[in-house]
Amino acid sequence: MERRHLAECGSTNTEALAHLRDGGGPLLVSASRQTAGRGRLGRAWLTDHAGDDASLTFSVALPMPAGLDLSGLSLAIGCTVADVLDPAGERIRLKWPNDLFLDGAKLGGILIETVPLPDQRRGVVIGIGLNLRPLPPEADRSAFTSGHAALQALDPAATASATLDRLAPVLRATLADFETLGFAPWQAAFARRDLAAGRRVRVGEQTGIAHGVSPRGELLLATTAGILPMSGGELSLRLETSL
Ligand code: BTN
Repeated sequence: MERRHLAECGSTNTEALAHLRDGGGPLLVSASRQTAGRGRLGRAWLTDHAGDDASLTFSVALPMPAGLDLSGLSLAIGCTVADVLDPAGERIRLKWPNDLFLDGAKLGGILIETVPLPDQRRGVVIGIGLNLRPLPPEADRSAFTSGHAALQALDPAATASATLDRLAPVLRATLADFETLGFAPWQAAFARRDLAAGRRVRVGEQTGIAHGVSPRGELLLATTAGILPMSGGELSLRLETSL
């Protein structure tokens, strides 16, 4: 897969989407600094830019079959990133559908966006942002509503380029497997890191007890009306009890 590094851009997802719109093939684009990084639901993705290794921001662009069910893709990617960074499975947890938590605070997030392509293809962009270095004590933490965790708490020597070198080949393999097998092979791996399992949560208008995920990656919510499968790009999960 072609790799490109930019010193600065608005958003690596925007770069990757434009590349696919222009007919480009598989690409991994990373940036030292994003001036308009975005998260899900129109939120800004704020990163500390105090030096190159404060955070890692990158996107993978890939043309995929138009009919492929992407509902579990962010979960498969989350499992892959967590397994590379925390192979013992002790400290990184995943919060459906796109958050990585380390020791109870947000370590990173995944933003998947798509663009229609000709010939039964769809351009898929997987954007990943990871905090590498802890915020300095004087930093304003108000934007980090789920707390701020840094990979250097797990691996003090973590740098952006070394972390990307560890992740890139494994992500490529995950994407190839996902294209043929869907999310099902990651269902058990997700269950091992599921931050919400057994907790009271709110998903959109619904509240209930998080009951794992389906083979498609839908969140299973146990409610008084039974187990409801929840999915959709606009949904997010809120823990009703603190960690
Ligand atoms: C979220 O937590 O809502 C997802 C955050 C995703 C952030 C990454 S950083 C690289 C890529 N470029 C962006 O503008 N967003 C994603």
